[in-house]
Amino acid sequence: MKKYVLLVVLIGLSVYSVAEARIKVIGRGAKMNFNADDIPEIHKPAFELMQIKCIKCHTMERTVISVQTGVAPITGQPFNKQAVKAYGIKMLRKPNSDMNKKEIRDVVVLLNYLLDENAK
Ligand code: HEC
Repeated sequence: MKKYVLLVVLIGLSVYSVAEARIKVIGRGAKMNFNADDIPEIHKPAFELMQIKCIKCHTMERTVISVQTGVAPITGQPFNKQAVKAYGIKMLRKPNSDMNKKEIRDVVVLLNYLLDENAK
């Protein structure tokens, strides 16, 4: 009986921690976004930048889902730090992305932070 209780507690804890692992998100569909209140001051400028530059061709939903699930929804590739960097470079090469190296780097740093938070 004791063992059974322990097992239930353990399963409960693991489910709970998985649920907690997800970063906080507001809105649904096209309005979906990371919760601005959870973004530390140091990442705020990059967060603002992302709101302007990264919604020109698609909504934030795509980025949020990639961070949350760890899977990039279009290509189905894993969305980890390596992928973030690769995507940053890909963005730089897109002629109409209208972002410079520094802007891309700031957003890459921010996305890495969000990936870390999501994994906690
Ligand atoms: C010039 C248009 C454009 C801009 C600006 C843009 N994207 Fe994209 N994004 C795309 C296209 C097109 C795709 C579809 C797959 C591809 O081409 O990589 C995409 C796909 C994605 C994906 C999914 C990738 C995959 O492999 O499934 C993510 C995540 C993403 N974008 C995030 C961002 C972020 C973050 C920014 C800002 C730094 C941004 N996008 C700015 C055009 C854009």
